[in-house]
Amino acid sequence: MSARILAPSILAADFTRLGDQIRQATEGGAQWIHCDIMDGHFVPNISYGAMGVDAANRATDVFMDVHLMVYNPDSYTESFVKAGADLLSVHVEAVAHLHRSIQHIKKFGIQAGVAINPATSLTLLDPILPEVDLVVLMSVNPGFGGQAFIPSSLKRIEALAETRAKHGLSYKIEVDGGVTLDNIRSCVDAGADVLVAGSSVFAAADIPARVRDLLARMSA
Ligand code: DX5
Ligand code: ZN
Repeated sequence: MSARILAPSILAADFTRLGDQIRQATEGGAQWIHCDIMDGHFVPNISYGAMGVDAANRATDVFMDVHLMVYNPDSYTESFVKAGADLLSVHVEAVAHLHRSIQHIKKFGIQAGVAINPATSLTLLDPILPEVDLVVLMSVNPGFGGQAFIPSSLKRIEALAETRAKHGLSYKIEVDGGVTLDNIRSCVDAGADVLVAGSSVFAAADIPARVRDLLARMSA
């Protein structure tokens, strides 16, 4: 397995200084930037769309990880690809034809991921696991930043890692929601490869230092 990745979520960034805050995160060593797209229907909040991803992408050369919390994601795939997405994830709960949505993303030559809510059975992912580059395991109920990590998520990370090993698959496991300095190591120990961190990165007084601290705990 390749090195673990920290993916700061710009949902918690100060949008009046977005480019600067992204540069601070990458200066600290963050390898990906995570963008949270919320439609006010699938989740009870509206964030930003392709324009926000485009702005973030112009501030950095790092990998753009785009998490779609929207219904009908297929209608928007192309606009997010044009905005610079390197990977697009759709929610298993939000699409009627998951395989079609994943193939649709791959046709654009970018990576595809599937996201899953805390109360959704992991067995629903079984048929799609050989097709995806990433599983976004939600460790909060999606819709808002700054929520508390749901402890039972650790067992779900372990289960996904076990399934991957058992079937010789290669998807990365991303943990999204409530990741902090205190729990990031347990996520890694459970088998996580990509750690999303919104408020724990952007609410810090010293963003590069916080990123370095999180990365240190991930590799310790
Ligand atoms: C939740 C989002 C997460 C969230 C992470 O709906 O998918 O990416 O913004 O933020 P924190 O780290 O503050 O929970
Ligand atoms: Zn997210």
